[in-house]
Parts: sequence; structure tokens; C-alpha cells
Amino acid sequence: MTLKLGVLVSGRGSNLQAVLDACEAGSLDAQVRLVLSNKSDAQALDRAEAAGVPTRVLDHRAFPSREAFDEEMLQVLRSAGVEWVVLAGFMRLLTPQFIEGFRDRIVNVHPSLLPAFPGVRAQAQALEYGVRVTGCTVHFVDQGTDTGPIIDQRAITIDAGESLETIEHRLLQVEHTLLVDVLRRIASGRVLLEPASSEGRRKVRCS
Ligand code: GRF
Repeated sequence: MTLKLGVLVSGRGSNLQAVLDACEAGSLDAQVRLVLSNKSDAQALDRAEAAGVPTRVLDHRAFPSREAFDEEMLQVLRSAGVEWVVLAGFMRLLTPQFIEGFRDRIVNVHPSLLPAFPGVRAQAQALEYGVRVTGCTVHFVDQGTDTGPIIDQRAITIDAGESLETIEHRLLQVEHTLLVDVLRRIASGRVLLEPASSEGRRKVRCS
């Protein structure tokens, strides 16, 4: 099944680039139908254009409410034929209506081993805390901030005295591989989101 992806971005777009490269190389059975940014100066837009992928900018500040902005995103993504949504450095929280609109079909890449260090500045939080191992997570998106069911994770060991910049750089390469790998498994139907357990938590079965 060719995954019809919509990628939501706000900035640099290196994860988007990894997805575009994998599509181009034929190592990921996916098509990026639309790259949607809430920032008109996002570098991710240049990357999409260079790959010949349609782009759209929706400035959230031009909308009267979060709901109105998300409703427009839903329409735009649906009209582009998007079936799965990837949050790749998208710096906005999503409304329940948006999440319901793509129920169980929104994934996010986050630069920490969740549930540790959710939210912004995750790598800095980890370094300030003094962890020796950090990593990244790709997870389904639910109503919370970085709380959705975990699909997969990769860990890296922090070297003694390593700077934040070096950790961020190393982790980013790992994120790229992990994100593409997870999308590959989704495309081949190997990622199953289970119904809620008695504790109410949903888990992912992934092969
Ligand atoms: C990545 O670290 C990702 O995990 C986080 O935001 C960053 C986006 O980087 N959600 P890029 O725009 O993909 O280069």
C-alpha cells in the first residue's frame, strides 16, 4: 500500500528530507502529497519544492481560533488526498477535532526517549538532567503533549562532556533513520494500534 502522506512542518525540515529521499530512492513505498507549514519561511518548504512536492502555508495567526486553523488544515490535507499525517518538527498543538479527523493516522517524531522529556527543548532537558542515555521516539499522536502510543525508539549513549550541539546532531541522524523505518513498517501493515487495556492505555504491536 503506497502511503499517502501529509507532512506538517514549522522549520528546518531535515526529517522531511529523510522521508523525501527514501521515497525518491524507492526504499519507502510512500508519496508525500503535501507539505504544510504554519511558517512561510520554513526551510522545509524549500526542500519540498526542490523535490517537486506540493506545499501550502497556513499562518495560524491569520485564524480566529485554534479550532478554525485546524479545521482548515484538515480540509487542505483531505483535498490533497492525504491519508497519514507526519508531524516533523511541527510546533503547534493539535485540537481533538484534528486528531479525530485522522484518527490513529498521525505520527510524531520526538527527540527523547518518551515518556521522559516531553515538550520543547527535549535534548537540553535530558542533558541538564544528567542522563547517560538518550534517544528518540516515533509515536502516535493523542490529545496530550508527546503522550501517544509509542511505535518505536532508538537510544544513544551520551559521551562524557559531550555538548548539546553534538548530541542534537547525532540524535537527528538517528531520528531520520527511525522515522523512515517506522513509515516503512506502517506502509507494509506491520504497525497495529491495539484497543485500550484495562488501565486505559493503548499500545502498539509492531513487527
Ligand atoms: C526534530 O528534532 C524532531 O524530533 C522535533 O523537531 C525537530 C525537527 O527537526 N519534533 P527537522 O525540522 O526535521 O530538521
